[in-house]
Order: sequence, then structure tokens, then C-alpha cells
Amino acid sequence: MSEPQPTYLSDYRPPAYRVTRTELTFDLDPNATRVKARLHIERHPEREAVAPLELDGEQLSLKAIAIDGQPLEPDEYEVDETGLVVHRVPKAFLLDSEVEIAPDANTALSGLYRSSGMFCTQCEAEGFRRITFYPDRPDVMATFSTTVIGRAEQEPVLLSNGNPVERGELPGGRHFVTWEDPHPKPSYLFALVAGDLQKVKDTFTTMSGRDVTLQIWVEEENLDKTDHAMASLKRAMRWDEEAYGREYDLDLFMIVAVNDFNMGAMENKGLNIFNAAAVLTHPHTATDAAFQRVEGIVAHEYFHNWSGNRVTCRDWFQLSLKEGFTVFRDQCFSAETNSAPVKRIEDVSFFRTAQFAEDAGPTAHPVRPDHYIEIGNFYTLTIYEKGAEIVRMLSNLVGEEAFRRGSDLYFERFDGQAVTIEDFVDCMAEASGQDLAQFLLWYSQAGTPEIDAHGEYDYANAEYRLILRQRTPATPGQPDKQALHIPVRLGLVGTKSGRDLPLTLEGESLGSDAVIHLREEEQEFLFTDVSEAPVPSLLRGFSAPVKLHFPYAREDLAFLQARDSDGFNRWDAGQRLALLALDDLIAAHRNGVEKVMDPRVIDAFRSLLAAEIDDKAVLAQMLTLPSEAYIAEQQPLVDVDAIHAARTFVKQRLAQVLRDDFLRVYRENQDDAPYAPEPEQIAARSLKNVALSYLMAIEDETGLELAREQFDADHNMTDVRHALTLLVHSSRGDIADPALKAFGETWAHDPLVMDQWFAIQVTRPQPDVLDRVKFLMEHPAFSLKNPNKVRALIGTFANQNPVNFHRDDGAGYRLLAATVIELNRLNPEIAARMITPLTRWARFDEARQELMKGELERIRAEELSPNVYEVVEKALA
Ligand code: ARG
Ligand code: ZN
Repeated sequence: MSEPQPTYLSDYRPPAYRVTRTELTFDLDPNATRVKARLHIERHPEREAVAPLELDGEQLSLKAIAIDGQPLEPDEYEVDETGLVVHRVPKAFLLDSEVEIAPDANTALSGLYRSSGMFCTQCEAEGFRRITFYPDRPDVMATFSTTVIGRAEQEPVLLSNGNPVERGELPGGRHFVTWEDPHPKPSYLFALVAGDLQKVKDTFTTMSGRDVTLQIWVEEENLDKTDHAMASLKRAMRWDEEAYGREYDLDLFMIVAVNDFNMGAMENKGLNIFNAAAVLTHPHTATDAAFQRVEGIVAHEYFHNWSGNRVTCRDWFQLSLKEGFTVFRDQCFSAETNSAPVKRIEDVSFFRTAQFAEDAGPTAHPVRPDHYIEIGNFYTLTIYEKGAEIVRMLSNLVGEEAFRRGSDLYFERFDGQAVTIEDFVDCMAEASGQDLAQFLLWYSQAGTPEIDAHGEYDYANAEYRLILRQRTPATPGQPDKQALHIPVRLGLVGTKSGRDLPLTLEGESLGSDAVIHLREEEQEFLFTDVSEAPVPSLLRGFSAPVKLHFPYAREDLAFLQARDSDGFNRWDAGQRLALLALDDLIAAHRNGVEKVMDPRVIDAFRSLLAAEIDDKAVLAQMLTLPSEAYIAEQQPLVDVDAIHAARTFVKQRLAQVLRDDFLRVYRENQDDAPYAPEPEQIAARSLKNVALSYLMAIEDETGLELAREQFDADHNMTDVRHALTLLVHSSRGDIADPALKAFGETWAHDPLVMDQWFAIQVTRPQPDVLDRVKFLMEHPAFSLKNPNKVRALIGTFANQNPVNFHRDDGAGYRLLAATVIELNRLNPEIAARMITPLTRWARFDEARQELMKGELERIRAEELSPNVYEVVEKALA
């Protein structure tokens, strides 16, 4: 097998031929589906007559091909495993082809496949070429007409993009529906669904008064799990009208839930296909976090109708054009329907843990990469989340109004086109009159910038001098970095008054909360008329995706935690304080000396628990210690055992000293009201459950009793799952085992709950867990062919159980590598994703490095898919 070759951004050329209209007929069969395609093709006016017609195609068995009704002679075209070339074609013509494909053999879940007996598709990024021969690139946009033929009994429901225009019976128990999508679209937005589905219906009246029919299609047993998705959809539709002036553009909008899906969901025009986990909710089966995730993903896919579908990407290097912008849009939407500060805290915690790690590892890449081997490997935290942070910076830089004018301009100017990231940024520059040339570097430079900050207060002159120095570490292929344009939002909090002081910079008065612009490698900012010694509150709201270092004294952090006017930075100060204490304890653990708890952390927690509570959701976050993964991110060398021991020690000390406070908080927030996924209820539950975690950290008798009662009460999944997790993670197998067994039996019929049942067990810190993972892999509810199961069991173990995944005998690594090797054959996209924890070998001690690299070598020795090949090569480079 020849080595897979990279595609380069610099090689981009517009297509020689465009398809203006695509007419498809699917004659569905699980093993031998026939796909007829009639393509209306035109040569690009500027392209030479000898340009061959190049069509992508993979795993297609060609049955017939003709141009303008004339079958092609064998010497007029060539087919290989990547596509089809016709040597000479007219200027404008009709291409007819017929291929056969095998949906049941498709375990990669890309193209047309079957999930729980239902036919469905996933075409982004390059799945359409597994359906028919086509110029499968986003800058070719056509109107589509799709006829779907299926068995009336097994596939009573036949769906595709757009509006249904014709349906009828056919001989042999078959029937058909024809769909017409009037909006020109690239092939990656094509979708087809056929199966025995039931629908839930609603309507939405758009701002111009048009009625849109909304449908959510599910398997019959899930009809009671669609309310939240439907309500979220309607809120999202309204929000996009109000926040961006964007209205929906078809008479019908459909969502379909499928059990086997590689990602969360897909924004196919008019027919969004969702992983069942990203759409189905019920108080008894889904946690608060799941309800919020569903709301966010439903909104995300809906928002793509403009940011992605109406205006799409010229090529896949521009992926963040639609993803970064759309994530930013869904984050703003969720911030409005939930607790805004908590939404930001959650997003940033996740970002700083997972995206920072990606940006520091061997697969680091710019938000706009300049080459890839397999685009499926680039649906990453960098493209999505860092891309969203860049759009957020833009919005803060130009201001809300100019941002809205810029987005209006973008949607109007480029409607119906496939464009680039520059096109988007240019609209923002035009609308704001700002020069964003240096800002554009954020898209091309990989790695997390670090800012070293220092400050001095000059009492005599009432001045505060802030010095900021930036550097971005080298990343693969990018040894040298340029200075970025970094917006730093800040305040100076007076140590006497406890208030934000007025900011005067170079004679200009900026209010008490301002953004300063770091553009040089090193820059000095001199604030005048500073009437008292301040503690700087820097990077408020995480105003840029950077690591900011400032030599805070612990007292300063405790002060900021109590006094900062910025909720996000109040939380962050507490995290920084805890991290400093954890550092000491990690060192103590490694040196084998007695661990001593920093009393300042206890005091900080005591004040939090004593204070008047205004936002319970924020308080719950403030009472949560940094995760083991985030602590690991801060360490020069990751020692999973020391981190686990140190964090457990802090939890236990806090629980011992503040037991009565935690108990009080638990009791004050118990509530028997019927479950609703609403902010106040969610906040109270999260606070109550944090308190219970502390009580369970010391296995307090009352705490155990409460956990068991909370599990037995079976009030909602949030409470049940939390209680069960705490029990399973405790040493009290006598209580945990029967509970776990009962839970597994009650929910054996519900795959989404069984995913949670798997995840709960494999996060146990106890050393017997690896055997449990192996045992569960044999469980009838587990399947390597189902991505949700792989993520719940193997993914959760490898990513959320550091002490056991990193066992020093390498057994955790071996298990992951063996799984990756099997998945490489079944589902390359999932296989490549699962390797991630092994790619982080450089962060560990030498013995573990050798073990991890050994497993990567073992994977490399296999015959690899391009997906796995690319990741393994980078990891071992
Ligand atoms: N565009 C989809 C979304 O973000 C994700 C598509 C994922 N495709 C893939 N090959 N992984 O909503
Ligand atoms: Zn998306």
C-alpha cells in the first residue's frame, strides 16, 4: 500500500467543472443499493477545453456511465479506488451514472449506512463520494432532486433534503418519495433517511410571518424524549432572528435521531441528522448536562443553516469559518438561556484542559491548517473551540454593533457562495473600520500563546506599571512565531476599597473595566491616577485563548476570589489558589513527606460557604477543585498518582473541616418539585451534588445515607447518576454493587442510559477497574461498531481515569492500542480519535513514554487507514 499523501491549501484551484443540478435516484437495499445520478455539468468559463472531468468516488461499483445519453467507451474514462476521470467532455452536458453500494457493510458510518435497521447518511466531509461519483468538494454547489425508493413495510418513511414533491406506490411492495431542495448546496450537505420512524410535529412562525413545519423523527420507543429538543429548536430559531436577523428558508425543518453516529450531529440542509445522544432527553434518562448539551447542539446545527449552508466553505482548510463561528453562536445562545457566567466557566475549563493539551501536542495545528492527510482528523477542539474563541475576540474587538453589521454584510455579500476565512474577517474590518491584518495571524499560527505579566505600583506617583510579554511556543512545522494581537480585558482592584479603580492610560480615561491591546512581543502599560495599591484582575472573561502568568501572592488570589467584579475571574482566582496549594501537595507526595493543607484554601472555602448566595450555579463551580486533567496540564511532568493523591487529600481535608457546612448546603438545596431543566433547578442540583461529593470524599455516614437515599428516590437522572457514581467510586461495594446491578437491569433496554452505566464504572479510581473494562467489553450491550459505546467505555476510561489508564505496567495502554487496531478496520474516524491519549506520551516519565510509544509502534505496524496513519505518524515524528 502506498503512503497516504497530504493535500495542501496552497494547491487550491477552483473546480474546472461545476454541477448546477443533481438528480439522484436511490433504489434502497441493505446489501446492494443502486444509485443513479444525473448531473448537469458545465465547464468553468475560464478553463481550457482539454481539462479532464475528475469525479471522486470510493467503494462504488460502477454499472453504467453515459454523457448526453451516449454510453462511454472503456477508453474514454478511467476508474480507480479514488475516483473516475473522463478524458474529454463537452462544454456543457448531462452525465448519467449508476453505481451499486452496500450500506450494511459500511461500518465506517460515512456515506450511506444502516443504523438499527434504518438507512441514513453522513457526508461531511467526504462521505458523498461513497454514494456516487461526484466532484465532492464544498465549492461545487447544485440544486438537488432526490428520489428514494424503499420497501413500504420496512421503510415507510423516506426522507431527503428540501420539500417532498411527489410520492407513490411501486410494484413488489415498494414505494417512493421525491424531494426537491431549491437551495444550491455542496454534496457534504446531502442527506437521506429511510426507515420505520415516528414523528413529533410542531410549527414555527418566522419573523416575516411564514409558517415552518418542524418534525423530529425517532424510533417509536423514543417519542417521549423529544420535548426538550423541540423547545430548544424553537428558541434557537427565534434567537437567530433576533440576534443575527436570520430567518429559516424552507417550509420544513426535520431532525432525525440515529443510534450509530460518529459525531454529535450534522447540519444537512433541511434534514439534520443527530446522534440519538444529542437529541433525546427525559428526566429519568438524561442528566442536566445532557439536557444542556442537547439544547446547544440543536441550536448549533440550526445556526449552520446560515453559517455553513447559505454561506459555506470554499475548501476544507476553511472548516473553522463555519465551525468556529457557529460554536460562538451556540455559546452565546446557551449563555442567554442558562447562567451566563457558568456557561463561560464550563466552556473555558474544558478549553484550557483539552484544547491547550491539543495545541501543545504532536497533532497541534492552526485554526486554518495548511495541509492535511485526512480531513476527518480535523474536526478538532482547535478548529471548533479555538475558532470560536477567535470569533469571540473579534466580536469584542470591533464591538457588538459593528460585529452585527459585519455579519450582516458577510451573509448578504456571500449568500449562496463558498468562501474563505479572509472573506469573513474582511467583513468585520470593513464594518468596523479596524485594521485586522495582525489579528489574522490567529488563524495561521498554532500553539497557545503565553503571556508573562508583571506589575508595579508606585505609591508616590500613584501609577501602576503593567508589563506584558508574549511568546508562542514552537509547534510541529512552525518553529518561529510572530507576535499576535491579543486583547487583554482587565481591571485594577483596589486593595483598600475592594473596588475596581478608574483606569487612565496615556491620559485617556477607560472606565473601570477595559481592554488593552498587546501587539508587540513586549509592551508596557502605565496607568496613572491610581489612588491605592491594586491587585490586577487580568484576562477577564478569558478575553483571549492564552496562558497568562502573573506572580500573584496567595493572599491576592483570595482577595480576588472575594472581591473581583468579574465573575469569571473570581472563579479563576479560586482555581489558581487551589492549584498553588495542589502544587505543594504534589511535591510533598513525590518527596514522601507529610502533606499539609494550605489554610488559605480552607478559609476561602469557608467564606464561600458562609456568604450570601446570589448564584448557586457559580457557587457550585467555585466549590469544585480543578480536575485531575487540568492539574496535569499545569505540571511540567505529569505524575498521575501524585495528582490524584493531592487532589483527594484536599477534598478530604475540606470535607473534614467543613463537613457541617456541606451538609447544610446539601439539605438546603434538596427539592422535590417535578424535574425541569431550568436554570434555578439545575443550579440547586449542582450545588447540592457538589456538597454530596465532599461528604462522600470522607465516606461520612450521613453522606453515605444521603447518597443511597438520593439514588433510591429515583427523582431524576442527574441525582441518580451522581449518587450512583459517588457510591461506585467509594470503598462501599456493599452499597454500590446492588445499586449498580439494579440500575443496569432497569435500563438494559435503553442504549443511552447504558452508555452512562458503562462510564460510571470505568471512572472508578480503584486498581481493579481495568479488569472491569475488559469484562464490560464482553457485555451484550457493548459493541465496537457503535461509537457511543466505544466513547462511553474505552474513551471514558482512557481520558477520565488517569491513574488506571497510566498504570505503570502499561496494561491501560495495551488495551487502548488493541481497541484502536480493531477500530482501524471498522471505523477509521473513531479509531483515529481514540488514539489521542497515547499521542500525549511526551508529558510523562521515561518508563511510561517507552510504553506509550511502544503501543503506537504496534499500531503503526498494521495496515492503516489514512486517518490512523496520519495521527500515528505525527505522534511518533
Ligand atoms: N458539521 C458537523 C457539526 O459540527 C460535524 C460533522 C462531522 N463530520 C465528520 N466527518 N467528523 O455540526
Ligand atoms: Zn458544526
